[in-house]
Amino acid sequence: MTPTFAVISGAQVQEALKGRESETAELIEAVYRQHDAGGTVNPPSYFLRFPDRPTARIIALPASLGGPLRVDGLKWISSFPENTASGLPRASAVLILNDPDTGYPYACLESSVISATRTAASAALAADRLSRERTRPTRVGFIGTGLIARHIHTHLAATGWEFEETGVYDVAADSAAGFRSYLERAGTQGKITVHDAAEPLIRSSDLIVFATVAARPHIHDPAWFGHHPLVLHVSLRDLAPEILLASANYVDDVEHCLKADTSPHLAEQLTGKRDFVDGTLADVLTGRARVPGDRTVVFSPFGLGVLDLAVGRFVHDEVARRGQLHVVDGFFNELRRHG
Ligand SMILES: NC(=O)c1ccc[n+]([C@@H]2O[C@H](COP(=O)([O-])OP(=O)(O)OC[C@H]3O[C@@H](n4cnc5c(N)ncnc54)[C@H](O)[C@@H]3O)[C@@H](O)[C@H]2O)c1
Repeated sequence: MTPTFAVISGAQVQEALKGRESETAELIEAVYRQHDAGGTVNPPSYFLRFPDRPTARIIALPASLGGPLRVDGLKWISSFPENTASGLPRASAVLILNDPDTGYPYACLESSVISATRTAASAALAADRLSRERTRPTRVGFIGTGLIARHIHTHLAATGWEFEETGVYDVAADSAAGFRSYLERAGTQGKITVHDAAEPLIRSSDLIVFATVAARPHIHDPAWFGHHPLVLHVSLRDLAPEILLASANYVDDVEHCLKADTSPHLAEQLTGKRDFVDGTLADVLTGRARVPGDRTVVFSPFGLGVLDLAVGRFVHDEVARRGQLHVVDGFFNELRRHG
């Protein structure tokens, strides 16, 4: 068999994932369970940083997935927050899929959408599973309203969530206005309120989504969480350790999440312990952990490369099934070992 190599564009990725939010949530749940059972290899992400561009980074996430979606690969994702000043998204990415039998890479996919999709699917799954033994939230609030917040809202709405109120807060007024306009175009039911500070949004929401680009905690007062909301702490560095220590905490992977100055990492540094982590999402999915109804619940997902691989392979197989793979002729051109 001659190895082939295909390039899958962002347009093809979006077409393959359109309307598939429930399937994606099931896929993400299966991968969390597989990761929990030891059926993955997911080493630490490698952060490339630049002394002359301190806000920028490019992260490499190598990973290997066993089971029905068996595939190896690498996600290579840039974060350049200054891009948004000109309207360009912050993150850009490619995903390489490797054949687990030969090691040959067989596809390169535009991956900003794959990354946003797996992040949003994970957040929607967590919102559902972490609220099953609590009162289901009816008032959602978004703090940080860029591309990730939009994808999370889309996945919540597509997996059955309806809210009486949607709160919006962003330090950049144009981001808040853009998100509000998206909510209106998406036909969002209920009241939409744009807040001019985080506190009133937090106090008036029972599901709170953090999707900012804050590098260090900017929310310090545990009293704002006195009503015990469910918090999807997707941007990982917004909450002061004191807030986590007063909450029930769930992560995707303990080793991954307690790194890179995330809020859980800061809480570990402050206390010298990890016992503030109540479990992983997989612990909740498998019934090993119970989620309290009378405490604030915080989900901090570091983001696992195996999730990108699973969604990437799903997209690849869907594009191939439709007969739309763009294979690069002669990509591998040295295929006889002795010439
Ligand atoms: N955990 C994961 O798996 C995962 C995956 C993907 C992205 N992320 C994170 O999600 C975050 C959002 O990504 P994005 O692509 O939507 O970025 P973005 O730049 O499009 O949007 C971020 C928004 O946050 C706002 N913001 C910054 N600081 C704020 C603050 N203190 N309070 C309120 N708003 C603030 C900005 O003005 C901006 O509008 C990033 O931090 C990214 O690293 C996490």
